[in-house]
Amino acid sequence: MSKKPVKKQHEDPETTGHSWDGIEEFNNPLPRWWLWTFYATIIWGIAYTIAYPAWPLVNKATQGVLGYSTREEVAKDIASFNEANAEIRAKLVSTDLTEVENDADLTRFATAGGAAVFRTWCAQCHGSGAAGAVGYPNLLDDDWLWGGDIEAIYETVAHGIRNEDYDDARYSEMPKFGEILENEEIEQVVEYVLSISGQEHDATLASSGAVVYEDNCSACHAEDGTGDRSQGAPNLTDAIWLYGGDRESLTDTVVNARYGVMPGWSNRLSEADIRAVSFYVHNLGGGE
Ligand code: HEC
Ligand code: HEC
Repeated sequence: MSKKPVKKQHEDPETTGHSWDGIEEFNNPLPRWWLWTFYATIIWGIAYTIAYPAWPLVNKATQGVLGYSTREEVAKDIASFNEANAEIRAKLVSTDLTEVENDADLTRFATAGGAAVFRTWCAQCHGSGAAGAVGYPNLLDDDWLWGGDIEAIYETVAHGIRNEDYDDARYSEMPKFGEILENEEIEQVVEYVLSISGQEHDATLASSGAVVYEDNCSACHAEDGTGDRSQGAPNLTDAIWLYGGDRESLTDTVVNARYGVMPGWSNRLSEADIRAVSFYVHNLGGGE
């Protein structure tokens, strides 16, 4: 093997012979390895766009000859999970809701599945920890508007509350008393609600308010103010408020009413998912 002759430093390389105003172009070709790598990336790039979805067209991108699609991969994954769980899902659907807790496998499946459904579909309104917010009930406590046993919860979740998509959604409507009562009567009845919930109040106004309450509110919130689950009318004697228990919030509720709406889920979630999430909510702490 012959050694390449070492070029002397400062010796000018060959020129291409091009010359512009006396400026000459050196002949410094790109290294071979670099060029071949460059060509290889181009070939790879073209082959890739043929094999995989790549070029955007009017409606969708080219599909690629391998027919690969991340969407399909996910769908396949989901299908394989569903297949693996088909048996236990079927069991959850056929088991009486009150019996689920007696079966360890079903309990585990419904708790984990229910938690996943809750995070996806319920947390945006009820909070990720289910503690609720103004207008969205806390599902952790034992204060229930419509009932806290597992079947009542199932019923609420399946059909929702005051929505227009389900004919059998839970329904009731507190009137807007701003259109019915005099301001004075509203002031009185608010003082009465403050009194029965054990808050600081004006006793004179509250005693007139008791009469206003009896005539206008007791049909739904009960004579003693403890509410009526068959109408979703909250207990007004406890310290738990959906919309706020201070004078201002109470006045706002009585004048304008609230009309809380919850979507129903039986058109959107499978029977097994609804049962799982109902079981999950029932087990959060307040279930009856
Ligand atoms: C768009 C908001 C929204 C979403 C999403 C939502 N809810 Fe609700 N939910 C409400 C509202 C508002 C109420 C209270 C309605 C009322 O005033 O009666 C409620 C009430 C409930 C109740 C009745 C509580 C009681 O005290 O009786 C349960 C149980 C419940 N939701 C469970 C769920 C579950 C489970 C999901 C998910 C599958 C869910 N909710 C999704 C808004 C929502
Ligand atoms: C037709 C039944 C009905 C009548 C009559 C009625 N309410 Fe209600 N009330 C409800 C329902 C249902 C709710 C739940 C609010 C919602 O989400 O729409 C409610 C909610 C409330 C709340 C909010 C409680 C909370 O936790 O924030 C207050 C306060 C209240 N009512 C006071 C009254 C007073 C005072 C009267 C009489 C002047 C009255 N209601 C009459 C059905 C009724």
